Amino acid sequence: MMLFLATFVVLLYVPLSTSIPIEKTFNNCLSLHSKTPNQFPSAIYTSTNTSYTSILESTAQNLRYLLPSVPKPVFIFTPFHDSQVQAAVICAKQHGIHMRVRSGGHDYEGLSFVSLFERPFMILDLVKLRKINVDIPHNTAWIQSGATIGEVYYRISEKSAVHGFPAGLCTSLGIGGHITGGAYGSMMRKYGLGVDNVVDARIVDVNGKILDRKQMGEELFWAIRGGGGGNFGVILWWKIKLVPVPQTVTVFTVTKSLEQGGNKLLHRWQQVAPNINENLFIRVIIQPGNSTVPGQRTVTTSYNAQFLGEANKLLRVMKHSFPELGLTRKDCLETSWIKSVLYIAGYPNGTPPEVLLQGKPTSKAYFKAKSDFVRQVIPETDLNSLWKIFLQEDGPLMIWNPYGGMMSRVAESATPFPHRKGTLYKIQYLTGWIDGEKNMAKHMRWMRKFYAFMTPYASKYPRENYVNYRDLDIGMNKKNSTSISLASSWGYRYFKGNFNRLVMVKTEVDPSNFFRHEQSIPPLPIGK
Ligand SMILES: Cc1cc2nc3c(=O)[nH]c(=O)nc-3n(C[C@H](O)[C@H](O)[C@H](O)COP(=O)(O)OP(=O)(O)OC[C@H]3O[C@@H](n4cnc5c(N)ncnc54)[C@H](O)[C@@H]3O)c2cc1C
Ligand SMILES: *[C@@H]1O[C@H](CO)[C@@H](O)[C@H](O)[C@H]1NC(C)=O
Ligand SMILES: *[C@@H]1O[C@H](CO)[C@@H](O)[C@H](O)[C@H]1NC(C)=O
Ligand SMILES: *[C@@H]1O[C@H](CO)[C@@H](O)[C@H](O)[C@H]1NC(C)=O
Repeated sequence: MMLFLATFVVLLYVPLSTSIPIEKTFNNCLSLHSKTPNQFPSAIYTSTNTSYTSILESTAQNLRYLLPSVPKPVFIFTPFHDSQVQAAVICAKQHGIHMRVRSGGHDYEGLSFVSLFERPFMILDLVKLRKINVDIPHNTAWIQSGATIGEVYYRISEKSAVHGFPAGLCTSLGIGGHITGGAYGSMMRKYGLGVDNVVDARIVDVNGKILDRKQMGEELFWAIRGGGGGNFGVILWWKIKLVPVPQTVTVFTVTKSLEQGGNKLLHRWQQVAPNINENLFIRVIIQPGNSTVPGQRTVTTSYNAQFLGEANKLLRVMKHSFPELGLTRKDCLETSWIKSVLYIAGYPNGTPPEVLLQGKPTSKAYFKAKSDFVRQVIPETDLNSLWKIFLQEDGPLMIWNPYGGMMSRVAESATPFPHRKGTLYKIQYLTGWIDGEKNMAKHMRWMRKFYAFMTPYASKYPRENYVNYRDLDIGMNKKNSTSISLASSWGYRYFKGNFNRLVMVKTEVDPSNFFRHEQSIPPLPIGK
């Protein structure tokens, strides 16, 4: 009798116990649901694994989200095959493990590898899924989410010197997160955004099914092209349309300080750059510099450009439209499209394109960033008051990106990315530092102050922001929140009127809000 009771107690006890580690439960579930259980090694890294930290940190761009005080995942899973992504979604859902999806890890607020509220959470890291199949005869490529945009550019250029793709300037961006948010780069004025050049996709939905464009339908296909990462499913593949680029591309960088008439030139740039020849993209990189007065700082404006064509033609365009910059033939560098990509990304002259195959970030920092879209020229007389606040920070940076051209011809509702006609340029504000938490509060305060100062110059009702420059200051979901009114605070800024349509798609494809994060699109409450 005693023995029987003891056995009974044990039998009762075991199933109730939580002593089975969650990664084991997950792993068992994976082998049940994988179509290829024995073909691939297990790739689950828990915090006791010696590789855990290096994998966690590998692609994380913003060191702010690696600080010891920030929550860490219970484990990281790096699938080797699409079917393991399907199994991961099924198993995370079944066992109540919150999932974050990471492709290139460049999220400004670390949302691909940190959850501020959910416990336990895991990372589905797509780093091993990076195939690129370029099809020149059909002008297309199928590219897998874990690949960087630099690898995509390289693989295209390897097959053809006259094909390219219009997406990000920074070559270590993961295409999984990058293209879901829009993806702009130096060819946007000619060909639009990355999302404007996507023709198909494969996505794992909340039920673990793989859907292509036809299977997912046009509403979901619309939503994933600009609605932001981590909302509707896991993108496995994009099918992109390649665009023509000339044999010879010309690049230049001309820098002027305030003392060299910087304000007058920047005022002129605002009028010229959004309207100039569409083959020409001139962005302005604004940084502190040394003044000719010893010990004082000034502001430098660097006009950093890519022209799809030869230098002689560029000089004619500049002479006609922007003579104030004083561009000369010796400022110009004629090169191939792929080398112009390296130039714009900031690699030193002569770096071989193969560097792109390393597929990893070149530099990391603690940083905070924000964005604005500008629809009216900032008067020249107001610029000096900007610089006063700008120079209060140690390492501030602004990048002004011109719009116009193709960007004005795509309707606001064609994709979720709404910042189209009427936008003159976008401002990105950045501040970076290396000493961790020490002066973090000061840097964050400066950024907020500068952004508040810029209010009169920015777009209004709503003040628009770029979803790929994620900013948690503009609002956050609560844990597993489905509050539409809460989410509308950032939803309208990122998507304008497209936000409502994104909510409808979300309600349709993920009503239980499995794919969620601090700024995900909420579904309508069930039953309404
Ligand atoms: C240094 C730097 C330079 C940049 N330059 C540019 C630029 O030139 N042009 C531009 O447009 N943007 C630029 N960005 C912004 C960039 O586009 C976004 O940060 C983008 O989200 C990065 O994608 P990722 O895959 O690297 O990021 P991740 O951090 O991996 O993901 C970002 C978001 O997407 C989700 N996600 C990731 N993979 C998937 C997937 N497969 N399916 C569904 N959701 C997914 C994540 O969960 C997260 O919410 C830059 C960012 C940095 C840090
Ligand atoms: C770490 O995890 C990987 C993948 O699951 C496994 O192959 C490796 O043996 C683990 N290493 C240690 C030291 O536990
Ligand atoms: C500016 O001056 C400081 C100190 O004199 C020097 O360390 C720094 O390199 C200079 N910066 C530039 C951009 O010339
Ligand atoms: C989120 O909350 C809703 C209702 O509060 C619940 O029905 C749903 O299952 C939750 N979703 C997840 C993924 O936990």
